[in-house]
Amino acid sequence: MQADFVLLPGDGIGPEIVFQAKRVLTTVAAAFGHEFRMTEHLMGGCAIDACGNPLPDETLEACRRSHAVLLGAVGGPKWDDPRAKTRPEAGLLRIRRELGLFANLRPTKTWDELLDASPLRREIVQGTDILFVRELTGGIYFGDSGRRPHASGEEAWNVMTYSTGEIERVVRLAAQAARGRRGRLTMVDKANVLEASRLWRQVSESVVKNEFPDLQYNVVLVDAMAMHLISKPRDFDVVVTENLFGDILTDEASMLPGSLGLAPSASIGSGGPGLFEPIHGSAPDIAGQNVANPLATILAAAMMLRYSLQLEQEAQAIEAAVNKVLAAGGRTRDICGGGEYLSTTEMGDRVVQALA
Ligand code: NAI
Ligand code: MG
Repeated sequence: MQADFVLLPGDGIGPEIVFQAKRVLTTVAAAFGHEFRMTEHLMGGCAIDACGNPLPDETLEACRRSHAVLLGAVGGPKWDDPRAKTRPEAGLLRIRRELGLFANLRPTKTWDELLDASPLRREIVQGTDILFVRELTGGIYFGDSGRRPHASGEEAWNVMTYSTGEIERVVRLAAQAARGRRGRLTMVDKANVLEASRLWRQVSESVVKNEFPDLQYNVVLVDAMAMHLISKPRDFDVVVTENLFGDILTDEASMLPGSLGLAPSASIGSGGPGLFEPIHGSAPDIAGQNVANPLATILAAAMMLRYSLQLEQEAQAIEAAVNKVLAAGGRTRDICGGGEYLSTTEMGDRVVQALA
């Protein structure tokens, strides 16, 4: 098949890690007889430097025309001045909104070879394999907000609003993902207190009952979920939740494997191009040194093939190659535990060799 991908290397280590992912995609295309056309565009701090806009129109148009977008990371101290008119992160928020990316998917899995990196005991985390589905374009981050004078100074508010349609589409997407995995779906809310959560519970129960009766479905309150995640993470398969809870829980979960350099994420929506990226940032402290771990970005490229092109075999081939490299002892500096390590380029070489 033919596919057009936009690559947005961004700032810091972004160009180094995206370059390795590009090599991997080229190798997969050759191995499976596809043609992947990849074009690079500016986004983030580099785009602010070039034209004063973190998401230039030209970049956004290229993304709209593409099958999917692979992003490195954006931001860095150079653009951190709080007085600056525009910040790199503004580009991220805008691209998600413009592409209608209402679901953020974050797989959280531990690697047997790297269990010592986890802050939790081996017997608790070993075998953890969760897919978080976080609602991304609604809720308290996008609701009514403001400030007004108050007898004690000021008061401020943010409102959590959700509609039936917003809940349905993300629950449906999560339920579909559960069907392709171990068939279990957990919905996290705070329905004992919040009215918006009560709507979530009502809508998600009806979606599951009517359309996905084959799934094992349960609900967990968000505060309990925060505990379960570190006491029995293996109990979960797909977890779906609203924006704010998902923001917090996915960061908590990202610590389970013990390394930022291995965790990919996908933001997808209703059929258009999705956005795929590592969960880590631009790591300015190690940029330009050829020591960054490219595996999270390579695994994000695998998610891109899975969710934007339905190329499941190709996605699994990339994941198997990464497994093979790790099992053979290949480590970048962030996961070497003080031992010998590979450069960014050498890690890319190993994955390409494992695929070939
Ligand atoms: P960070 O994730 O960039 O770095 C945190 C620590 O992890 C650093 O010590 C870094 O060296 C290390 N690290 C991160 N990725 C790594 C990799 N692939 N290989 C090896 N080590 C890695 O988070 P930080 O330092 O808070 O943010 C740096 C910049 O990135 C900021 O400007 C921030 O706004 C931006 N950022 C951008 C994101 C995005 O583009 N989606 C997400 C998070 C932060
Ligand atoms: Mg966060």
